[in-house]
Amino acid sequence: MKILIIGAAGMIGRKLLHRLAAEGEIGGQKIAGFTLADVIAPQAPPGLPARALTADLTIPGAAQTLIADRPDLIFHLAGIVSGEAEKNFEKGYQVNLDGTRALFEAIRREHEGSGYRPKLIFTSSVAVFGAPLPDVIGEDFLTAPLTSYGTQKAIAELLLADYSRRGFFDGIGIRLPTICIRPGAPNAAASGFFSNILREPLVGREAILPVPDTLRHWFASPRTAISFLVHAASLDTTALGPRRNLNMPGLSATVADAIDALKTVAGEDAVNLIRREPDEGITRMISAWARDFDASRAISLGFVGETSFEDIIRIHIEDELTGSAKPS
Ligand SMILES: NC(=O)c1ccc[n+]([C@@H]2O[C@H](COP(=O)([O-])OP(=O)(O)OC[C@H]3O[C@@H](n4cnc5c(N)ncnc54)[C@H](O)[C@@H]3O)[C@@H](O)[C@H]2O)c1
Repeated sequence: MKILIIGAAGMIGRKLLHRLAAEGEIGGQKIAGFTLADVIAPQAPPGLPARALTADLTIPGAAQTLIADRPDLIFHLAGIVSGEAEKNFEKGYQVNLDGTRALFEAIRREHEGSGYRPKLIFTSSVAVFGAPLPDVIGEDFLTAPLTSYGTQKAIAELLLADYSRRGFFDGIGIRLPTICIRPGAPNAAASGFFSNILREPLVGREAILPVPDTLRHWFASPRTAISFLVHAASLDTTALGPRRNLNMPGLSATVADAIDALKTVAGEDAVNLIRREPDEGITRMISAWARDFDASRAISLGFVGETSFEDIIRIHIEDELTGSAKPS
C-alpha cells in the first residue's frame, strides 16, 4: 500500500504520519511507502520509506507529479483555514477549491489512461452548514454555508461525490468537528480561542476568552481526528452509498464545560489564567456555528468520538506535554 499525504506539514498531516509510521499498516495492509507533500517542506521520521516533496497544489502540473507513482490511498488535507479563507478570498478559493479540483482532475486523467482508482480521504468541515441552524443538526440538514471556507469545502464535497460516482476514485469526505486542543502556536482559525483557553493555562500562561461561557460548540481531539481518517481509509465505501460526506461524531460542549474540565484536570490556578475580554465580532460569528450533531450514520459505520472534555484535555497532556518524540 502506497500512501500520499497532501498537507503533510500541517497539524493533522504530521500526526497522521506519526501514527501510520508507528503502526506500519492500515486496514490490515502493510504500508510500502509514503509520499509527503506540502507547500512547507514536510519532515519524514528517519528511516521511514518516504519521499518528501515541497509542492503547491495550485501550481499547474503539481497534482500530476504527486500521483505519478500511483498511490493506493490519498489523504487530501491541504487547505487554508477558516479565518484566512475569509480574509483572503482569492487564496482561499485557489487552495481549497482550485487546488482540490486540480488533484481530482489529475486522478481522473490517470484513471482514463490506466484505470487507476485510488481511495481518497478528504478533510471537510462542519462549516458546510450555515445559520439558521437547529440545536442538533440532523443527517439530512442542508449544506448552505455562510463563509467562504464553508463554501469551498461544500463545493469540494460535491466534486468528491461526483468523481466517486463516476468511478474516478473512491472518495470519503470527513466533516471534522473543531479540533481541540490544537497544539503549537495559535493559527488563523477563528475558533482558535477554544484551544488557547485550555492549552495556555495548562503550561502556566494566560489566555483570552472572547465569548460568553454559555457558547456551545462541537469538538474532537486531534488524536480522535486521526482515528477518523484511519478508520475512513479502511472502510468499505459500499456502505456509504452515494452520500460520500459524513458528519463525524463529536462532543457538544459549552465554554463553561471546557473550563470546568480544566478545573478538574489542572485546578483552580489554571482556570484563573483565563482572562475574559468579550469581543462582539467573534461572539457573533461563533454563535452562528454548529452546536451539536446527530452523527448516527458515522457512528453506525464505526466512527467513535469523545464523550467528555476531561478526556480531550487528558489526551493533550498525554500527546503533547509528556514524552518527547511526539509531533505538535
Ligand atoms: N483543525 C481543525 O479544527 C479542522 C476542522 C475541520 C476541518 N479541518 C481541515 O483539515 C485539514 C487539515 O487541517 P489542519 O488543522 O492540519 O490545518 P493546517 O493549517 O495545520 O494544515 C494544512 C496544511 O496545508 C498546507 N497547504 C496549504 N496550501 C497548500 C497548497 N497550495 N499546496 C499544498 N499544501 C498546502 C499548509 O502548508 C498546511 O501545512 C484542512 O483541510 C482543514 O480545512 C481542520
